[in-house]
Amino acid sequence: MADEPKITPAADTPASPTVAATPAAKPPAAAATSGAKLAGRTTTAAARPRPKAKAKVDDDTSPLMGRRGWMGLAWGSFTAASAGCLAATGRFMFPNVLNEPPQQFTVGFPEDFGQGVDERFKVQFGVWIIRTDNDYTQEASGFYALISVCTHLGCTPNWLSSENKFKCPCHGSGFRPSGINFEGPAPRPLERARIVRQEDGQILVDKSQKFQEELGQWTDPESFLQI
Ligand code: FES
Repeated sequence: MADEPKITPAADTPASPTVAATPAAKPPAAAATSGAKLAGRTTTAAARPRPKAKAKVDDDTSPLMGRRGWMGLAWGSFTAASAGCLAATGRFMFPNVLNEPPQQFTVGFPEDFGQGVDERFKVQFGVWIIRTDNDYTQEASGFYALISVCTHLGCTPNWLSSENKFKCPCHGSGFRPSGINFEGPAPRPLERARIVRQEDGQILVDKSQKFQEELGQWTDPESFLQI
């Protein structure tokens, strides 16, 4: 019978090395020491005393809008109103269109006109040029310029050659070729404009200077151009 192998005891395994202590494993004694050093001092933001919250003002408690909101709205309204006023003023000072016809203009040479009422300048300049051989006031032959504005309420009369009169379409006032009113509500004659002769011989009409019969102004030498 074979001998059973001898079992020898395993050699002693070397002793496992000792594990070094880590900082995490710092003995509580050290932490206690550190705590003792900082005792009575503030070390973190969390530890600082928090500022007290501002007490709300009564005006700020509106359920719809706070005081700042109302102030902003008021300033916005004020600014908008000021801008509107400035825009209106600018518009008044600088109108887009100037439609007024010129007040002074030439109408041609005396030989360009026949006797009676000439309507060529009514639409553009608002006057009739009349040539007569015996003027109502001046008792002379020549020209005058009648302004085509009714003296009742300002409508534009029409020249009716068949009836030898000016007739206002608005309320029926009638005027003689001289400009004298004779029917309807017009309270006074038509007005005449300044009429003179230029150096070149042409007739110049100036509507900026007007002459009224009821004021005795039709005797003014510039209210009638003698030829
Ligand atoms: S405006 Fe001419 S009669 Fe009234």
